[in-house]
Amino acid sequence: MSLLFRQLFDYDTWTYTYLLADTEAKEAVLIDTVKEKVDRDLALLKELGLKLKYVLDTHVHADHITGAAKLRAATGAKTGISKNSQVTCADLLLDDGQELKFGKFTLRAIATPGHTNTCMSFYAEGMVFTGDTLFIRDVGRTDFQQGSNERMHDSITNKLFALPDDTKVYPGHDYNGQQMSTIAEEKAFNTKVGGSNTFDSFAAKMKAMKLGPPKKLDIAVPANLRCGQE
Ligand SMILES: [Fe+2]
Repeated sequence: MSLLFRQLFDYDTWTYTYLLADTEAKEAVLIDTVKEKVDRDLALLKELGLKLKYVLDTHVHADHITGAAKLRAATGAKTGISKNSQVTCADLLLDDGQELKFGKFTLRAIATPGHTNTCMSFYAEGMVFTGDTLFIRDVGRTDFQQGSNERMHDSITNKLFALPDDTKVYPGHDYNGQQMSTIAEEKAFNTKVGGSNTFDSFAAKMKAMKLGPPKKLDIAVPANLRCGQE
């Protein structure tokens, strides 16, 4: 087996971008790219001799602009996002359970709405990329972009927590310097959905969150509906 995995970080928006690749077939996937970091990503792909096959977004982001369109133009990769997004410029409008192949590996889309109605997590090789659905010890906000506490709770407790306990959890952001977790850890220690939390305690904690709008909200959402073209 020859799976290459990299976790990349954008200091401005605290966004993790993930690179997965089959080093024999040289086919690669990028998850949650950041427009300002496209040159970094292209340089890494070139150094490693990888051909980018897919550029995926876990959802229509409100806090940064996706690098999807720029990466597609530079590499010929296909862009993908949830079919609920109605992003007409995307090459792939992904369904729950849809599988994408890169080399001998398979990445599976898992619809996990709640933070937005377009949220998807991606599972491959014992790793799950949870976007803004499940964070390390926390969850994404549900107060805009068709967010829903009911859907969020259902997505995490019935879909993500159904994955094997030793599945590694890689979130879309972390604001505390952590990089990964596991399903077992989040079941036990997540402050909103883990341990003895119920739907009611989760909903009360979500209501108590006092968050301002993301700083790029006004430009990021419209740009992301155009695959990142401004
Ligand atoms: Fe988000």
